[in-house]
Amino acid sequence: MISDKIRDILNEQINKEFYSAYLYLSMSAYFSEIGLYGFSHWAKVQSKEEIDHGMILFEYILGRNSQVNLGQISMPKFDMNSPVEVFEQIYNHERSITSSIDCVASMTEGECDLATRNFIDWYLKEQIEEEASVSRIIAKLKTFGAEKSALFLIDRELSSREYNLPEL
Ligand code: FEO
Repeated sequence: MISDKIRDILNEQINKEFYSAYLYLSMSAYFSEIGLYGFSHWAKVQSKEEIDHGMILFEYILGRNSQVNLGQISMPKFDMNSPVEVFEQIYNHERSITSSIDCVASMTEGECDLATRNFIDWYLKEQIEEEASVSRIIAKLKTFGAEKSALFLIDRELSSREYNLPEL
């Protein structure tokens, strides 16, 4: 069993992960509309991974004999000015998710809940990888993205992203 405080913060995190899935799906649609199908594919794969992140929390809460409380998912919002600006918004979003996971980890320590502290480690590592991969894409876009032929090549590279089930 987990404490009510841990239950509530994990439920809030489920909502943030599903909001992330919705945000990436919306970005995928935007990229498709402007003909960047590789970017669109990348965002769609990310959306699936975010659903996995939410579902892992869902199963964890149930597995600890506690209650899942699903809240309303907000409408995704982002500025559609250019691919690099969208990726900068992705980076800021992921940083906010990292802070949120940090708060979960910190609360588990306050509650002496070492099992959840151990469980949440996977998310801490996942956030480091997500921030790093997004910042690499931003760097490429800033350096080469103004050239249409380079943007085409970046698009082709992003089209090769594979969806993998999370390894816990
Ligand atoms: Fe599930 Fe992108 O954090």
